[in-house]
Amino acid sequence: MPLGKVLLSAEQIASRVGELGLRIRRDYEDQPLTIVAILQGAIVFLGELLKHLGAGVTVELIEASSYGTATASGGQVTLRRYGRLDVRDRDVLLVDDIADTGRTLAAVARQLEAMGARSVRTCVLLDKPSRREVDVELSYRGFEIDDVFVVGFGLDHAGRYRTLPYIACLDEPARKE
Ligand code: XMP
Repeated sequence: MPLGKVLLSAEQIASRVGELGLRIRRDYEDQPLTIVAILQGAIVFLGELLKHLGAGVTVELIEASSYGTATASGGQVTLRRYGRLDVRDRDVLLVDDIADTGRTLAAVARQLEAMGARSVRTCVLLDKPSRREVDVELSYRGFEIDDVFVVGFGLDHAGRYRTLPYIACLDEPARKE
């Protein structure tokens, strides 16, 4: 699928992530914070966010995937890489690229709570509220976007476009009548 228009420039993203980082740092002050980021989509957002969070933060990476069509996530969420994770009595900030149906964040947050986390907040770069199927609270959110499939800044389509420094729409091919 071809790349469509640029939705968010690298500068817009950097500036907004800086604001989120400042808010997070103020909210947690000097409390130890554990970031749990969801591979793979969150990696670029995580790297940008970490620049603003100071030295007292620990970072854990987990994997989650939801199955559906190529450009729409489905109902089933599979979680991996939980083995080493110890969040007992920790304040956790769950970081992901985008809240779409909300299923991934809700499933991971539930799991972290079950593992004994003291608090779990969520942080996403993008939010597509029109697609929400599961009620999930977004504690920190970069941008609200419409129901379009987007790529870049860590978000991919079939493994492509993840390395773009900006976020663009993916154009659906025109349908033949
Ligand atoms: P849910 O539906 O669980 O979404 O909130 C979870 C995952 O779906 C992927 N997703 C996208 N990936 N462009 C992408 O590259 C998009 O527009 C998009 N919408 C959802 C993403 O991996 C997210 O973590």
